[in-house]
Amino acid sequence: MPPLLAGREEEKERILLQVMSVLDGDHSARDTFLVGPRGTGKTTLLNWLGQHVEKGRKSGAIASLARIGKPVSEIDSLEKISELFLRKSLFLGLSSVDVRAKIMGGSFEFKDDRYIGSIERIYRQTKRSPLVVLVDEAHEIEADKLNRLFHITQDARNCGSPVMVVMAGTPQLRDKLESAQASFVERGVEVEVGPIERESSREAIELPLKDFGNIRIENGALDKVLDEAQCYPYFVQLWGQALWQQAQKEEKHELQMADVERCKHVIEGEKAQLYQRRFQRWDALELGALTEVARRLIGGSKLGRHGIVKVCEMALESSGQDAAGAMDVYKKLVNEGVIWKKTGEENYGPGIRSFLNHVVEQEVSRQRQDREFDGGKTR
Ligand SMILES: Nc1ncnc2c1ncn2[C@@H]1O[C@H](COP(=O)(O)OP(=O)(O)OP(=O)(O)O)[C@@H](O)[C@H]1O
Ligand SMILES: [Mg+2]
Repeated sequence: MPPLLAGREEEKERILLQVMSVLDGDHSARDTFLVGPRGTGKTTLLNWLGQHVEKGRKSGAIASLARIGKPVSEIDSLEKISELFLRKSLFLGLSSVDVRAKIMGGSFEFKDDRYIGSIERIYRQTKRSPLVVLVDEAHEIEADKLNRLFHITQDARNCGSPVMVVMAGTPQLRDKLESAQASFVERGVEVEVGPIERESSREAIELPLKDFGNIRIENGALDKVLDEAQCYPYFVQLWGQALWQQAQKEEKHELQMADVERCKHVIEGEKAQLYQRRFQRWDALELGALTEVARRLIGGSKLGRHGIVKVCEMALESSGQDAAGAMDVYKKLVNEGVIWKKTGEENYGPGIRSFLNHVVEQEVSRQRQDREFDGGKTR
């Protein structure tokens, strides 16, 4: 958990509205889906919810919590480690229930039907006591397994059990839910987890420094940090950590612009790695469309879904490809969090603005190298 979970009051309230009704024994609560790009704080919100429910359990609200962790992709050699790790964290708070789920290594959870079977067993055993199932990285679950999970959850409800599922995943989860074709998915509540407000980023940086270390940061320097963090929770956290370490290293209680510059140097390295990883997820045929969308959004173009698809079509055509691929590129832009908008908003903005700059810079550098290469050939 970050030292301060900033700017998520509305999201917390919406999640709790459903969870509280389960805890009150209501068996018509709605499953809840936390959807947002990478690094925006979905896992953090699940952790917060886990702690919240756990507190309620201790105080006698007899809620149980089944927690399904991240699918682990490494299989054989890590099997034992993940088994140990997961056994501890999986069914947190289910001590009163006899859970004998066999936990497999690897992407164990939903590959193995027995796992869903164990959730079914938990539902049966919890009977009328409330149960909240938390599922992280849910976009990785295959559609048929999701479908099954919703069915057994619904069956449990029909039998009068107050149960619900809270899932977190990247925007790809929306497609997965759609292809799961479970009609009660439509009844679910979607909570969007996007960038936080600038004022919330300010709090997330300023308050922990002050409260835990009596460290202050000069106003201009803080503004610079906020510009750099771009309201992206993962960057906000990197900055908070770097500033804290800088203050400890220099034994200071007052941070200035020079300190921010030093931290920036460290953070740039981490950002570059992140951008490189994300950039590598795009293959050569998609790069033209990615770059064109990036260029337009940086330039302030107002583009909704239709506009983005159009730009992709044009870019694909200009590189001699079939424009019909534009919809797939658009979906990838959304799923990868390159572009982001709240439901109801008309136009997309950048997921992380500086990633878009990185994309454009890569293209400029590629063109420069092409020119050099061509120049060499003609000489
Ligand atoms: N509201 C917030 N205020 C401050 N820091 C936050 C907030 N939300 C998340 N963070 C921090 O941002 C980072 C990313 O959060 P988290 O891992 O929860 O994101 P995620 O959406 O689950 O990402 P992924 O999709 O990659 O799993 C963490 O370091 C977390 O502590
Ligand atoms: Mg996560």
